[in-house]
Amino acid sequence: VIRSVVRGVGAYLPARTLTNADLALMVDTSDEWIVQRTGIRERHVAADTELTSDLALAAARAALANAGMEPGEIDLIILATSTPDNTFPATAVSVQAGLGITHGAAFDLQAVCSGFVFALATADNFIKSGAYKRVLVIGAETFSRILDWSDRTTCVLFGDGAGALVLEASESEGEQRGVLTTHLRSDGRHKNKLYVDGGVSSTKTVGYLRMEGREVFRHAVGMIADVIDDAFKATGENAGSIDWFVPHQANRRIIDASAVKLGIAPEKVVITVDKHGNTSAASIPLALAAAHEDGRIKTGDLVLIEAMGGGFTWGSALIRW
Ligand code: ACO
Repeated sequence: VIRSVVRGVGAYLPARTLTNADLALMVDTSDEWIVQRTGIRERHVAADTELTSDLALAAARAALANAGMEPGEIDLIILATSTPDNTFPATAVSVQAGLGITHGAAFDLQAVCSGFVFALATADNFIKSGAYKRVLVIGAETFSRILDWSDRTTCVLFGDGAGALVLEASESEGEQRGVLTTHLRSDGRHKNKLYVDGGVSSTKTVGYLRMEGREVFRHAVGMIADVIDDAFKATGENAGSIDWFVPHQANRRIIDASAVKLGIAPEKVVITVDKHGNTSAASIPLALAAAHEDGRIKTGDLVLIEAMGGGFTWGSALIRW
């Protein structure tokens, strides 16, 4: 049996931060409203010259350093993003070139906020099939570029950033570590509840993020609970046996409600939404990096990740770290 074992994790956040107070100078909002409804206090925003590929490359380098690996050891790069540098080529090939890798393969994957879980599942299956040995799984976004900065109902929610994991195939007998299970779902009937108005095939130019916030909220907790249930059923694990719950960081209220519904103790929940806002596909690897760096997530820990986002798409994974 081949297992996909986490060898390294890394993150990158743009230097510039935008606080709720800063936003209150731009639109009719307040720190109190944003904190109470979302738990967000500040978010990072990329400089005009900083592209998604720059964020992704910095996170990839950090993950490789953490793994003690050279870029040349990587044979596959999967980059989850909804905010690519260009329509094509894939942002992943810019990261590949930036790392000086000329072998193997690199491609983008698009599942909005669930992108990282979809990318992790894809990487895990490529590793298990024996096709690739060392995979960089990256979530990187510059949502600041698709926000309507005059719309208070959306511009306060998102931030920019990138995070990455290095996965390596392990065929060691009795290997306990690695990705234990992944579960992906989507339901396109909800495609108009969260979308960007415009794109190459419809309007040629990219528009702004649009969202029916209440509708997203209404569906989120049930979908998250369902797909986590799938992960528990597949492995025999449960809310009590996991060490860390690292959810997609969209909104504090969605995270808290999900943890309550699943019976996950609050001290096991990793929260970064207060400092990062919703960084879409980057939020989970950013949160994994934060909890790894401050010593919470340790080798051998059982880590549950979960995301839900535009499409709708949703998914879960259990990782023995
Ligand atoms: N500041 C002040 N007031 C605001 C703001 C703001 N930034 N935004 C909206 N309001 C106002 C509205 O205009 C409305 O005013 P009205 O009553 O006079 O019409 C009032 O606040 C209530 O608005 P609602 O949209 O009903 O507020 P709600 O409590 O639903 O909170 C929110 C909005 C935070 C977007 C919530 O619906 C939510 O969290 N939804 C989930 C969406 C989400 O997290 N999306 C992220 C992307 S999807 C994903 O990653 C899963």
